[in-house]
Amino acid sequence: MKKFTSVNDLTDIKSAVQEAFEIKKNRFKYVEVGRNKTLLMIFFNSSLRTRLSTQKAALNLGMNVIVLDINQGAWQLETNRGVIMDGDKPEHLLEAIPVMGCYCDIIGVRSFAQFKSKEEDYNEVIINQFIKYSGRPVFSMEAATRHPLQSFADLITIEEYKKTEKPKVVLSWAPHPKSLPQAVPNSFAEWMNVTDYDFVITHPEGYELDPMFVGQAKVEYNQMKAFEGADFIYAKNWAAYRDEHYGKILSTDRSWTVGKEQMSVTNNAYFMHCLPVRRNMIVTDEVIESPQSLVIPEAANREISATVILKKLLEGLE
Ligand code: CP
Repeated sequence: MKKFTSVNDLTDIKSAVQEAFEIKKNRFKYVEVGRNKTLLMIFFNSSLRTRLSTQKAALNLGMNVIVLDINQGAWQLETNRGVIMDGDKPEHLLEAIPVMGCYCDIIGVRSFAQFKSKEEDYNEVIINQFIKYSGRPVFSMEAATRHPLQSFADLITIEEYKKTEKPKVVLSWAPHPKSLPQAVPNSFAEWMNVTDYDFVITHPEGYELDPMFVGQAKVEYNQMKAFEGADFIYAKNWAAYRDEHYGKILSTDRSWTVGKEQMSVTNNAYFMHCLPVRRNMIVTDEVIESPQSLVIPEAANREISATVILKKLLEGLE
């Protein structure tokens, strides 16, 4: 594999999940695959899980790891070409990227949507420049429109816990005080759409996602109706995608907070969230602390999804 920015970079999802189960039984099985190889992790945004789980995955594979937080200790980077650099940014991304490529074999990039321009965000300008100019295989540690390492971990978790072959999985918008990117719901939808699950998306009107990610999913504006008979509830906030509302908060309606009442109409559903989560905005204490909550096993599977992906990238090195 030469890059990993979406589900489309995996040729066979079922075999990737099987590989995840195999690695979970013995996570050091491939410790020789990454010997003398270096992973460089570039963070434009904060992280807890991605930072730790991806480093752990690299260690599982015997790799060396370098982590750079662009906003703490690195030069401020100009990202737009053609700019007269007489401001506070002394280095351009177009030099910084190939320089970073000199010191490593694989690069992971975290670069969120900035909500300044929908076109720039949805063209994935930052991570695509890394792909173009680094000379190294690049993988997403959450980019502007997708978070594939998270979605792969989510799929592994559903496969581990499902009680029927084709579970009903519901992605539910939930309220949040800040404007959040669509990367997690987009990506989750994209991964669910390559399974044969019964997949439903529910959100208030105005929060429609890019149709490219919604795909064949059913969209239901009534949250309670969507939750009926569900086997998995995946809660997440996202800001509006459509038109002039792009990046805006249209509602903080707390009747959408996932609580006991909503969960009572499900098929004793498991609760999922990528974390970090704002309690009693997205989900009540009661639900996230219940035995049906999978938020910790889901986070634990981030190590597994990253190990599978890094192994595939290492195998693709020339
Ligand atoms: N879920 C997730 O990506 O967590 P972090 O933002 O803490 O990495």
